[in-house]
Amino acid sequence: MSTTLTPVLTANWDQPNSFTLEGYGPYEAAKKALAMDPDAVIQAVKDSGLRGRGGAGFPTGMKWGFIPQGDGKPHYLVVNADESEPGTCKDIPLMMANPHSLVEGVIITSFAIRANHAFIYVRGEVLHVIRRLHAAVREAYEKGYLGKDIFGSGYDLELVVHSGAGAYICGEETALLDSLEGFRGQPRLKPPFPAVAGLYASPTVVNNVESIASVPSIVANGADWFAGMGTEKSKGFGIFSLSGHVTRPGQYEAPLGITLRELLDMAGGIREGHQIKFWTPGGSSTPIFTDEHLDVPLDFEAVGAKGSMLGTRALQIFDETTCVVRTVLRWTEFYAHESCGKCTPCREGTYWLKQVLKRLEKGEGTEDDLSLITDIADNILGRSFCALGDGATSPIHSSVKYFRDEYLKHFEIGGCPFDAKKSTLWGDS
Ligand SMILES: Cc1cc2nc3c(=O)[nH]c(=O)nc-3n(C[C@H](O)[C@H](O)[C@H](O)COP(=O)(O)O)c2cc1C
Ligand code: SF4
Repeated sequence: MSTTLTPVLTANWDQPNSFTLEGYGPYEAAKKALAMDPDAVIQAVKDSGLRGRGGAGFPTGMKWGFIPQGDGKPHYLVVNADESEPGTCKDIPLMMANPHSLVEGVIITSFAIRANHAFIYVRGEVLHVIRRLHAAVREAYEKGYLGKDIFGSGYDLELVVHSGAGAYICGEETALLDSLEGFRGQPRLKPPFPAVAGLYASPTVVNNVESIASVPSIVANGADWFAGMGTEKSKGFGIFSLSGHVTRPGQYEAPLGITLRELLDMAGGIREGHQIKFWTPGGSSTPIFTDEHLDVPLDFEAVGAKGSMLGTRALQIFDETTCVVRTVLRWTEFYAHESCGKCTPCREGTYWLKQVLKRLEKGEGTEDDLSLITDIADNILGRSFCALGDGATSPIHSSVKYFRDEYLKHFEIGGCPFDAKKSTLWGDS
């Protein structure tokens, strides 16, 4: 059994008061950072090798370094707490169990980028998390960690927790900014990037919850400590969320580069009597993997080299009882519902993918329909305005690549082979 867990953000989650300031402790890392030069804080985060934990893996320190200095404009930090990708479930438990790591990270980051206003944009449905964040922010204000002259440094910061209305597209950073400004959340054309013209057309850093919550540990323990974990280009630790047909699903904080086989060892394996069939390395927008990929190091490079993406490390595990066609249909229904409608390939394409997949899943499709879904996906990929459209094609292309026979079986038998009535036609599932 592997023992490579590295609990940092999750270290106190089992303590009854982990979400209170008393349970978290004084903001020593923020105190240390506010005594430093802001550029030295940016440099420390650059040296640590921290890459964005929201999916794309962009180097965090480099992003902060793009904020122009001495431009006379206000600067903003916006934390992306919209977590909506199917399978992704790390930021919400992090904010529930350890909200002060995020608030402390916000203080350090805002100081580094010379921002005096920061926002946490949180998914509107998670009322319990919103309440907890408000409580944490209130505690931080009461202690003088937010507001005027923090730690007597002369630095001021106001932090606002803003609830969205629960749209997946509002997790896309520019749609999020439109929504935060009070408009309908739809992606903006880039460039200009948020670092140049973000919130209220001013320089803005948008970072994921886990990225920002990791910052206090880097300041406290040093860049080398963080860079000593993980792989050459994917440094540090991350939260791996195991869900689905696993004996002990949950959050496993481990160095990047760990494999699913090692994580499954710690999670008690696939549920008893079953075998793994397919899995997502980073949520539904990342191409699926199969049992061939159990030993792929879960870092940005190795997962990419095998044709998928590390994404948000949302490891959704499906055993042999799961119909891949039905799973892809469910994900596609999600994308069709969440498509914001701004561009034609995604708006129309996800709608038609859903129609054809419904037919295929019922066993009423033909081999031409299989070509049709691939063709529609080809016309969405790379032609959509934002990454939601591209993400919608991942389950289609990868499932046809690995499970073409299962699609064919549906129309051979005129139904889903995983339905109880038909199960004998498809082995012993
Ligand atoms: C449709 C869509 C939804 C997204 N949802 C989220 C989200 O919920 N949380 C998040 O941090 N990033 C999300 N992203 C990625 C953000 O656009 C952005 O890359 C991220 O917040 C940057 O933070 P990071 O550099 O710390 O990873 C989403 C992107 C797309 C295209
Ligand atoms: S790809 Fe989809 S979600 Fe993105 S802008 Fe186009 S319609 Fe909207």
